[in-house]
Amino acid sequence: MNEKKFITTPIYYVNDRPHIGHSFTTLIADVYSRYYKEKLGAESVFFLTGTDEHGLKIAQAAEKHNMSPEEYTNMISQEYKDVWKKLDIQYDYFIRTTNPKHKTLVQKFIKDLYDNGYVCKGAYKGYYCIGCEKYLNDDEIVSGACRLHPNIKLSYQSEESYFFKLSKFQNEISRLLTERKYEVYPEERCKEIITRVKEGIKDVSVSRRDVDWGIPLPWDESSKVYVWVDALLNYYSALQITGKEMFWPPDIQFMAKDILWFHSVIWEGLLLANKLELPKKIFAHGFFTVDGQKMSKTTGNIIDPVKLVGEYGTDATRYLLLSSFNLCNDGDISLSRMKERYNADLANGLGNLVSRLSNLCVGIDFEILGLEKTKICSLDKEIGAQLDKFNPHEALKIIWGYVNALDRDLAIDKPWLYDGSRKKTMLSKYRGQIIDIAIGLIPFMPKTAEIIINTFSKSKIEKIRPLFVRKI
Ligand code: MSP
Repeated sequence: MNEKKFITTPIYYVNDRPHIGHSFTTLIADVYSRYYKEKLGAESVFFLTGTDEHGLKIAQAAEKHNMSPEEYTNMISQEYKDVWKKLDIQYDYFIRTTNPKHKTLVQKFIKDLYDNGYVCKGAYKGYYCIGCEKYLNDDEIVSGACRLHPNIKLSYQSEESYFFKLSKFQNEISRLLTERKYEVYPEERCKEIITRVKEGIKDVSVSRRDVDWGIPLPWDESSKVYVWVDALLNYYSALQITGKEMFWPPDIQFMAKDILWFHSVIWEGLLLANKLELPKKIFAHGFFTVDGQKMSKTTGNIIDPVKLVGEYGTDATRYLLLSSFNLCNDGDISLSRMKERYNADLANGLGNLVSRLSNLCVGIDFEILGLEKTKICSLDKEIGAQLDKFNPHEALKIIWGYVNALDRDLAIDKPWLYDGSRKKTMLSKYRGQIIDIAIGLIPFMPKTAEIIINTFSKSKIEKIRPLFVRKI
C-alpha cells in the first residue's frame, strides 16, 4: 500500500450513554478520515472507534441497571453506534473489548510480555479512582478527591498485582519523544509529557485481583487484565480481527488530554516491549465545559448529541461542534451561542447564499460539470494545511471566509440586474465558487456538500429548498 492512514478514537466506557464530549473527538477523527478518503481513496484509510467494556466501573453500572454486564454492554455499545449513525460518522470498524477475538489477542500479547520477562509480581497500595480506572498519584488528588472526578469517593486499595516494567523504557521513550520518532500534539502537551517522563516513570500494574468482569490473565486466571491494558490493545487487535494488519501502525490517534499519558507513554512501553512499531502521531485536544461548568450528571448539564441532531440536523450539529473552539485549548460550549451561530453561519450564511444563488441560476443553460471538475478544489491546499496543524476549526473559518466573500460579491455585482450572456458569465463564476466551497465542506458536512454539488453541477439548476431553517 502506498500512503495509508490508520485513524483512531479512544474506545469509550459504556458506563453511560454517549455525550457531546465523546461525539466531539469522534467527529474530529471522522473529518480526518473523510478528508483522507477523498484524497487517497477510501481503501487507503482505516478509521477505528469502539467501546471499552470491561472493569469495575462497567460491572457496577450494569448492576445499578439490574442487568448482566453482557446485556448492559450490548445495550450501551449499540447506543454509541446509533449516535454515530445520527452524526454520520463513517467508521470502518467498531471494536468492542468483549469481542472474544480481542480477548484472545490481549491474552497472547500479555503472555508474550510475561514470557519475555517484562512482567513481575508486586503489591500496590494507593488511592484508586474508579472514574479514571487507575491508581492516582499524589498530585492528582485534590481535597481528598480525584481532580477529574470530584464526586466519586476514592477507595484506598492494597493488593497483590502483576507489574509491567515500564520503567525499563524510560530512557528510550524519552529519546523517542525528544527526537520526534513519534509525535505528540499539541506541542505544549508534548513538552509536559517529556518533562514527566524525565522525572521518572514507574512500573504499571497490569492486573486486578478484585475484578470479575475482565479478561483473565493467561498464567493466573484468578486475576484479570487491568482494563487500561485491555483497552489500549484494541488498536492492535482491531486490525488483526479485520485482517487489516497492513494498516499498522496508527497514523493519528485522537483523544482528549485526560488520557494522554496512557497513550503517549504506557502504550508505547507496551509496544516497545513486544517489538511493535509505534504510532506516528498522537493528538490530545482540550476539554470543554458547558456554559462555563464541567459537564456532569450532578450539574445536569450533559448535552445529548441526539437532542442536538433533533434540533439542528446532522450536518449543522457537526458544524456547530467542530467550529466551536480551537482544539488545542480547553473550550466552552453554550447552547445559546450554538443557536446564534446556527442562525448566523448556517441559516443566514451558507443556506441563504445557496438558495439565492440557485434561484438566480434558474432558467440558464450551463455546461454540465463532470465528476473530474467537481473534484478539484482550490481550497484543498488551505484546508489540508490547517488539518496538518490540527486546526479543523480554522479550516472551517477559511471556508466561511469564502462563503462571506461570495455573498459580498453577489451584493456588489447584482447579477439580477442583468440578463443574457453577461448574467450567465457572472453566474458561471459563482457556480464554480460555490462548488469549490462544497468540495471543501465534504469532510465536515458531507450531506450538505453533496446537495450543493449535485444542484450546481447540473446544466439546468433548480432552486434549492432552504438547507437550514432559521431558529427563533
Ligand atoms: N475508555 C477510556 C479510553 C480507552 S482508549 C484505549 C476512556 N473512556 S471515556 O469514555 O472516558 O472517554 C474519554 C474521552 O472522551 C476523552 O479522551 C475525550 O476524547 C472524550 N471526552 C469526554 N468528555 C469530554 C469533554 N468534556 N471534553 C472533551 N472531550 C471529552 O477514557
